[in-house]
Amino acid sequence: MEAVRVRITINGDEYVRTVPTSMTLLQFVRDELDLTGTKEGCGKGECGACTVLLDGAPVNSCLIFAYQCAGRSVITIEGLSRDGALHPVQEAFMRHGAVQCGFCTPGMIMSAIALLASNPLPTQAQIREAISGNLCRCTGYKAIIESIDDAARRMAGWATAHGADATQG
Ligand code: FES
Ligand code: FES
Repeated sequence: MEAVRVRITINGDEYVRTVPTSMTLLQFVRDELDLTGTKEGCGKGECGACTVLLDGAPVNSCLIFAYQCAGRSVITIEGLSRDGALHPVQEAFMRHGAVQCGFCTPGMIMSAIALLASNPLPTQAQIREAISGNLCRCTGYKAIIESIDDAARRMAGWATAHGADATQG
């Protein structure tokens, strides 16, 4: 099996590993780094459970090889909290009861954060569109959309006051 040496920044920390060329980014974060917040659902790009941010853009980590991320920056759900405090989007999910079994939640939140980074006050239609690749079998999406809407409003107020961006809790 062919292997390559890669240097990838995950949640602000740089990791250098020799990985098989067949290893996905999902396997890299879960199996190599033990960051198991990112979930594996379908394994073929259909459910969004494995969504992470690659250079700020949401991607299905099951569809990208780890070697393709060499020299790039990845943020997983573990990278969102600051000093033990949840990110405002995570807090909103808790407040609105948008977490049931929780399997879709990390991917859903990463998609939401990517949206808010480019569009701090999205419409509900834009929120729906942004999470259209993330499947939830439990909630019916209402609480999820309300959470993202609520977080956006709170963060917009916070950012106006503090000049922060959406990936920063
Ligand atoms: S596990 Fe990657 S899209 Fe379903
Ligand atoms: S909370 Fe169970 S799949 Fe979304």
